[in-house]
Amino acid sequence: MPDSFQPAPRQLPLEVARDTFVIRAITPSVAGTFTNLNSMVIRGAEPVLVDTGMGIHAKTWFEDVFSLVAPDAVRWIFVTHIDTDHAGNLVEVLARCPNAMMVTSRGESYRASASLGITLERMRMVEAGEDFDIGDRVLRASRPPVYDSPYTRALHDPSTGVYYAADAFCAPMPEGVVDWSDEIAAPLWERGMASFHHHTVCPWVSLVDPARFRAEVDKLAVLDPQVIVSAHAPPIGKAAIPRALAQLASLPATVPVPLEMAGAG
Ligand SMILES: [Fe+2]
Ligand SMILES: [Fe+2]
Repeated sequence: MPDSFQPAPRQLPLEVARDTFVIRAITPSVAGTFTNLNSMVIRGAEPVLVDTGMGIHAKTWFEDVFSLVAPDAVRWIFVTHIDTDHAGNLVEVLARCPNAMMVTSRGESYRASASLGITLERMRMVEAGEDFDIGDRVLRASRPPVYDSPYTRALHDPSTGVYYAADAFCAPMPEGVVDWSDEIAAPLWERGMASFHHHTVCPWVSLVDPARFRAEVDKLAVLDPQVIVSAHAPPIGKAAIPRALAQLASLPATVPVPLEMAGAG
């Protein structure tokens, strides 16, 4: 797999909570910014991979993941949805991790079987609101407040407070790359986040009832997450979460700048 599409700075795995690591890659994006293509490793009693990165980043993705957990030790591969930026290395991961089962929603399992040839014997179905036990903790799947595939599932680890949000909370990474979202200049984060959601992940958000949408965001807030990990933004730490939730909740009434201006502060 060529690594030619990777002139962006290399960011090594970031431990965002105990035994929980964000696997990071960034690609050039609008107006001199970058876009994150994150995934995650939970190094629990039964290690879990959360999404499998992009095929274009396969070399560094496998280096990073297997620096944290041995291939034979991986037990679960939670796939939020099989968009190519979330499941790019999935088939190779299943081949290299023979003791791992894919975990996904029932709807996505059919798509993964039909389009990627993954057998149902390698899958475990977990619907929104359902838990699955990984030995030393229980994880819960849910529907994130926004998504670009109806089968998308977020993942919450109550033992660490880490909430993996899939496409939600996407925002541009500034040219001077950062580890955490609250290091992004506030105007860039706010305008960029609104633009990314309206133009890419959930154009439908301009059609929804603001109060009902806010209620969906509140369902996430009551989990009291300690860290929110978006696939497409730097992680959001505890102190920045109220601001991130407020920005998300305001999306129905937000008029976004054009995508090509999303990187302008
Ligand atoms: Fe997606
Ligand atoms: Fe995505």
